[in-house]
Amino acid sequence: MSPDDSCCRVCCRGLYSCYWRHPSEKKRRHACCWFSVVTLVSLLTLCWMYICLVTFNDREDVNSKGFTLLKLWVNWFMVLIIISAVLTSYCILLLLFALFQIALRERLDLHCLHKILLFFGVLFISFGVTGISLRWEKEWPTVLLSLQATAPFLQVGGVGALTLLSWLVFQGFHRARRVGSKILIAVAFVVVSAAIFLCPLLIHSPCLIELSELPPKPNLIGHRGAPMLAPENTMMSFRRSVACNVMAFETDVQLSKDRVPFLMHDHDSGFLMRTTDVKEKFQGQDFSHSTNLSWEELQSLNAGDWFLKTDPFRSASQLSAQEREAAKTQTIPSLLQLLDLAKKHNISVIFDLKNDNGGNDTADTVSAILRSGIAPGLVLWLPPAEREYVMEAAPGFIQVYNNIFDMDEEGGNHLNVKYSTLSTTEIRELRSKNVSVNLWVVNERWLFSLLWCSGAGSVTTNACHLLQDMNQPDWTLGPAKYRMIWITVDLVSLLIMCTLFILQRKICCFSHTKGKEKQLPAWNQRELSPFLPSE
Ligand SMILES: *[C@@H]1O[C@H](CO)[C@@H](O)[C@H](O)[C@H]1NC(C)=O
Ligand SMILES: *[C@@H]1O[C@H](CO)[C@@H](O)[C@H](O)[C@H]1NC(C)=O
Ligand SMILES: *[C@@H]1O[C@H](CO)[C@@H](O)[C@H](O)[C@H]1NC(C)=O
Repeated sequence: MSPDDSCCRVCCRGLYSCYWRHPSEKKRRHACCWFSVVTLVSLLTLCWMYICLVTFNDREDVNSKGFTLLKLWVNWFMVLIIISAVLTSYCILLLLFALFQIALRERLDLHCLHKILLFFGVLFISFGVTGISLRWEKEWPTVLLSLQATAPFLQVGGVGALTLLSWLVFQGFHRARRVGSKILIAVAFVVVSAAIFLCPLLIHSPCLIELSELPPKPNLIGHRGAPMLAPENTMMSFRRSVACNVMAFETDVQLSKDRVPFLMHDHDSGFLMRTTDVKEKFQGQDFSHSTNLSWEELQSLNAGDWFLKTDPFRSASQLSAQEREAAKTQTIPSLLQLLDLAKKHNISVIFDLKNDNGGNDTADTVSAILRSGIAPGLVLWLPPAEREYVMEAAPGFIQVYNNIFDMDEEGGNHLNVKYSTLSTTEIRELRSKNVSVNLWVVNERWLFSLLWCSGAGSVTTNACHLLQDMNQPDWTLGPAKYRMIWITVDLVSLLIMCTLFILQRKICCFSHTKGKEKQLPAWNQRELSPFLPSE
């Protein structure tokens, strides 16, 4: 076995180009182009994986949209994450093999199987990005927002990657024979490095504050109770959220045929299908409206079994045997049952009215609330449709608005919006104006941390049991301290790069004087570095 065929070389070459024996001379064209493709696709898959991970907070959107379309409960988002993770690992491995090839001065011949797979990878990501842009465009602000939580770490990672790669760049630089190529490499490298080194100047994050200036922790509002710990919108779910010290119960109200307000999120075509056994109990009947059924009929439905069967949050395994039994027997609660629980624990209630007001839903709901005897100050009234009537009939209710314009118009000071519709600066400004801002739906720690640093008053969450345990945001850094950190990291990286540059120069000169390059096969000289333009 010649030294060219050491185990490491053969493996690298075999996995990248599928030439386990020494490659033939003829197929060497476009190798550098394909290396660039591998690099680009790897970066693309990394970005895509990042998008998947930050949109994980809103996975429920995707899954319930999938349910509305197919009437079949599948954890689509998990499928997406798994495919993306496999794709990303594959591309990164391919890139690593390519870099090894270069470091070992082997030739770069990408096998056509890899080319096809890369093509499918790009196709998959293009579909994904188009899909988000067309059907889920409100998710792009989330991706931007997430940068405020991750940018400082991405920058340090970028500096690390740059420092490692600089070894190859310097190799290319020293081996380039034409002055033009040298200048090109140098300029490209300096521009990229400067961008990565200096981008902290552009990083603004609400969490770059002194700990002493940190606003108080946002209150938690249980989104349909504690839907990760019990079936959503059931009494079990709301009782579980009481244990999280929630400030309010969030729910959805609809009215039955006999005008009893009950709690159910889905309406229109998917009504009752996702969260109850309506298909078995009322075979062949297709209900599309809350008034199709009387309260007695609604109570006969099981509203908990689906949770154990479909495990929407991959959390059912955390339930004890006793809790599973309890979940199995849950039924649809009435609004009155919830108000009693709220009254008992001094917890507020906030809800949507799911159906249009044709059947006088507002008046019936308001009178049910007033009859329950709950303190009016515990009711956060959200439905905008007949606000004036509600203000008159129940002046004690707290009026909550779903946009700033209406709130300012009517002189309110409670706002309830999706977390990505306000910038972190706007949240901070509203706080200074004594407006209490509630943001929905916040499930992930990074997002909660970011909103905490910005000064949100409360958040609606599926994961109250996770957020309850947080005593501090994931990270906060004083601005001065952060400046010191990134400048130090930059300087250390610069120092290492200088050392590498000098080292490469020595190696290069050494091989020049020894005339080693002459012994290398002809293709190797032309392929010393992918950063070299063709000469
Ligand atoms: C349910 O209610 C809607 C609207 O009131 C009505 O059009 C539909 O026929 C009803 N369906 C059943 C099965 O009663
Ligand atoms: C209920 O909670 C509010 C704050 O949310 C507090 O001001 C009030 O005193 C509490 N009432 C009782 C009876 O505990
Ligand atoms: C907000 O409330 C605080 C105390 O509750 C008060 O001192 C401050 O003036 C208020 N700010 C505005 C803009 O109303």
